Amino acid sequence: PLWKVRNVCCIGAGYVGGPTSAVIASKNPSVGVTVTDINERRISAWKSNRLPIFEPGLLETVQEARDGSASRRPNLFFTTDIEAAIGAADLIFVAVNTPTKTSGRGVGRASETGFLESAIRTIAEVAETDKIIVEKSTVPLGTAGLIREILDAIGNPGVHFEVLSNPEFLAEGTALKDLLLPDRILIGSLSSPSGISACDTLRNLYSTWVPQSKIITTHLLSSELAKLAANAMLGQRITNVNSLSAICEATGANIEEVSNAVGLDFRIGPKMLNASVGFGGSCFKKDILSLAYIAETLHLPEIAAYWTSVLELNEYQKDRFAQRIVRCLYSTLTNKKIAILGFAFKKNTGDTRESPAISICQALLDEGAQITLYDPKVPKHQIWADLVCNGGEGTEENITICETAYQACHDVNAVVILTEWDEFSNRQPVEPARMDWERVAKTMRQPRYVFDGRNITDAVELQKLGLRVEHIGKSL
Ligand code: NAD
Ligand code: UGA
Repeated sequence: PLWKVRNVCCIGAGYVGGPTSAVIASKNPSVGVTVTDINERRISAWKSNRLPIFEPGLLETVQEARDGSASRRPNLFFTTDIEAAIGAADLIFVAVNTPTKTSGRGVGRASETGFLESAIRTIAEVAETDKIIVEKSTVPLGTAGLIREILDAIGNPGVHFEVLSNPEFLAEGTALKDLLLPDRILIGSLSSPSGISACDTLRNLYSTWVPQSKIITTHLLSSELAKLAANAMLGQRITNVNSLSAICEATGANIEEVSNAVGLDFRIGPKMLNASVGFGGSCFKKDILSLAYIAETLHLPEIAAYWTSVLELNEYQKDRFAQRIVRCLYSTLTNKKIAILGFAFKKNTGDTRESPAISICQALLDEGAQITLYDPKVPKHQIWADLVCNGGEGTEENITICETAYQACHDVNAVVILTEWDEFSNRQPVEPARMDWERVAKTMRQPRYVFDGRNITDAVELQKLGLRVEHIGKSL
C-alpha cells in the first residue's frame, strides 16, 4: 500500500532545499511542506521578501505557496524547529550540504557527510511514526545503506523508515525552470515491497506536474552514482572544450566554430560546449573529487587519475587566462588598474562558490594590480570574504567594489569579463539594460584591453571603438 503523505519536511534550506520545496508545495496544494535549517538567519530570510538566494522566478513561487491567496491556503512553512517539523512529517527530504572534507581521512577529496549524519540522527531520535527519508543531497556511493544502518541502530524500534535516493539535477540561475521542466526525476530504492511502495509514494508527489515517462526508478546505488556521474561528465565536457580552446588560441582556429560543428552531431548535442575561464560552482569540483576518491578507495587508481585530470585541466584553464592578461599588459600589473566584470560563478546567481573569478582576481592582485569590481548580484561582503578575509591577496587599498559597470571600468587599463551577465554583452539584440561599450571605451586608459573570459562580446564591434580584445579560444 502507498504511504499517505500529508506533511513533507525538508532539512536544509539552501540552494536545493528552498527552491525544491517551494515547487513541491506550489504543485501539491493539499500537502504541507515545512523547510527547516539550523541557520536562523537563513530561515528568517526565507520568511521575508528578501530571500537568502537569488533565482529568477523564485520569490513569486515562494510567495504563492508561503503566503497563500483567496484561492489557496498557505502550505509552505519555514522554521528552525527541526524536531517539530520532523515529528509532523510523513516524508523527509534531506538537502543539507555535503562539501569536500577539510580534515581527516580523504581530506580535500572525499565529501563530508557529517551534516547529513547529524540530520539523520535527529530524525532517528525524534520520529515516533513511520517515515520515508529521501536523500536529496549529493552523497558518496553507499550512503543510503549507511543511513539505514544508523536508523536501525538508534531509531525507535517500533518505527519503520524507508530510505530513498532522489538526487537533484537543477542548475543555479535556472533552478525554477529545471524543477518545473526536469529532463528526468530519478528515484533509487530497495527492491523490497516496502521500498517500491515508498518509491511510488514519492513518484506521486512529482506526478502532479512531471509526466510519468520522465520519472525513472533504479537501485539505490545506481541512483547515487548516476548523480556523481552526471556532474562529472558535464564538468569533463566543459573541460574538453576548454582544452581545445588552448589549441585554437595557438593556431587561429575558432572555438565557437569548433563547438558548433561538433555539437551539431546528434550524438554529442549542443549544450554545455561554451569555452570559458573554467567551470566553477559548488558541485562540479566537489563531485569529481568525490568520484575520484571513491575510485581510489575501490583500488581503481587509473579511474581516479582519469577524473582528477579533469580538475587539473580546469585549474590550468583559469591560470592560463590570468597569465594571458599579464602577458598582454607587458608582463607587469604594477600600477595598472583592471576592471573585473562579474564575480558569480555563472550568470543569474549571486553564488560565488568555487567561482573562477576568485582565483583569477587573486592571481592579478598577486601581480600588483589595482582591481575595481562589479557584479549585479553578489553582495559586497561576499566579495570581501572571498578576496580578503580568507587569507587572500586583497586589501582595502587594492580592491574597490563598485555599484555599476561604468564605475568599475572608469580609468582602467583593461576590462576583464569573468561572468556572462547579459548586461556585459554587446551582441544583438541590444536591450536598454546592456552596457554602453562606447561610453566605457572613452573612459579607459591605454592599452584599453578587453579580456572576455566568457565570449559574450562581439570583438569586431569592440575593436571599432578602439579596444583591443582577447577572447577564449580565438586569436583575432
Ligand atoms: P547549501 O549550503 O546552500 O544549503 C545546505 C543547508 O543545510 C544550509 O543552510 C545548512 O545550514 C543546512 N544544514 C546543514 N546541516 C544541517 C542539519 N543537521 N540540520 C538542518 N540544516 C542543516 O547547499 P546546497 O547548494 O543547497 O546543496 C545541498 C546539497 O545538494 C549538496 O549535497 C549539493 O551537492 C547538492 N546539490 C546542489 C545543487 C546546487 O545547485 N547548489 C544542485 C544539485 C545538488
Ligand atoms: C551543475 C549541473 O549543471 C546541475 O545539473 C547539477 O544539479 C548541479 O551542478 C549540482 O549538482 O550542483 P551549476 O553548477 O549550478 O549546475 O551550473 P552549470 O550551468 O552546470 O555551470 C557550472 C559551471 O560551468 C559554471 O561556472 C559555468 O559558467 C560553467 N560552464 C557551463 C561553462 O564554462 N561552459 C558551459 O558550456 C556551461
